Amino acid sequence: MEHVTQQLNQLLTRDHAVELDRQSPLASRRELFDLPDGVVYLCGNSLGALPRSVPDRVAEVVRREWGAGLVGSWNSADWTNLSKRVARRLAPLLGVQGEDVVVGDSTSVTLFKTMVAAARLRPDRKVIVVEPTTFPTDGYVAAGVARTLGMELRWCDPADPAAAVDDDVAVLALTHVDFRTGAMFDLAAVTAAAHDAGAVVLWDLCHSTGAVPVELDAVGADFAVGCTYKYLNGGPGSPAFVWVAPRHQAQLDQPITGWWGHARPFDMVQEFEPAPGATSMQVGTPPVLALSSLEAALEAFDGVGMDELRAASLSLTDLFIALVDERLAGFEVVTPRDHARRGSQVALRHPDAYGIVQALIARGVVGDFRSPDIARFGFAPLYVTHADVHDAVEQLVAVVENEEHLDAAYSARKPVT
Ligand SMILES: Cc1ncc(COP(=O)(O)O)c(C=O)c1O
Repeated sequence: MEHVTQQLNQLLTRDHAVELDRQSPLASRRELFDLPDGVVYLCGNSLGALPRSVPDRVAEVVRREWGAGLVGSWNSADWTNLSKRVARRLAPLLGVQGEDVVVGDSTSVTLFKTMVAAARLRPDRKVIVVEPTTFPTDGYVAAGVARTLGMELRWCDPADPAAAVDDDVAVLALTHVDFRTGAMFDLAAVTAAAHDAGAVVLWDLCHSTGAVPVELDAVGADFAVGCTYKYLNGGPGSPAFVWVAPRHQAQLDQPITGWWGHARPFDMVQEFEPAPGATSMQVGTPPVLALSSLEAALEAFDGVGMDELRAASLSLTDLFIALVDERLAGFEVVTPRDHARRGSQVALRHPDAYGIVQALIARGVVGDFRSPDIARFGFAPLYVTHADVHDAVEQLVAVVENEEHLDAAYSARKPVT
């Protein structure tokens, strides 16, 4: 028994963490990011770190394409196809084809237009199902869509969302990885169960894409939406994507019929005629600066295997959980220990979670707080190392041992927690 404990202790040393980093096939990727010295960044599930490729690319677009090229850059710099180029880069991360992906609006707007389009595929059904612990915007948008279309909103049991799907349900809208707990649904199984009941499924992949691989085509999914500023590192407020299964595209009828979703936007005709395929999900003029930042950021994924990404993510979260178990009392690991049910973050429940996160930030370890009592740590596998994980837990232990979190300075809530 003592021998086993000794072995476990060796596995939890900093040297072992450094060795795991040395062996990682993603080891060289961290160099692609501009992280401040002395900071352990465990908040890439909120805002991804800055890829080194981004500043020069954005500066070039601003100075040369916008400044010198002016309006001509829509043609000469191919701004009109920028969104399509970004979609092609995203496709392998989603297990889909680039032509079925559209990028351009915020996640909330994209959720709205996609949820309406999904509901319109089942015009005889009047219910949208959402789970009560979903990210607030998903619930708010679902309520708005239900009101707009004269439908009803039904809350499901997060333990078994498909159980709420009966003959009345048009759409089941779920977040694949829960923003608070990091718990992950079985995307394939839930999709299949909802299909058996005749519904379509809209997946929110905000906390998956770039850290947790999905195979949307292979599992026969319907719709997926996701942001690009978390694990994809597109920058604050970078635009969201939507993927539409090819089999639904001929019937696609989304509600924000803007001119960029028209079959021939520059014909400027009076009648709206939707563009073929997923392109009709486009709405208005694409955000060129934000898309340029995202396009450059996605280069960090070039040549990365999805299995490698997932293995690195699980190795980091496994180590974090093991160290918390070993070194800290009074914290509940809320995130599932089962790999099949875990995203790329670990959530710790503690009554003083807010103060703990603030005190940790003061020590250079950046996580965040989610109401009411969750300290949340994201492990972006491209740039978080096992040594980071080790150091973060060391700092967490120090905060608690020194009771730094009880300092009044750390109890004042900031606008963004
Ligand atoms: C699951 C989920 N959906 C949606 C959003 C945000 O939507 P938006 O990009 O419109 O702010 C977030 C933001 O963190 C999220 O976690």
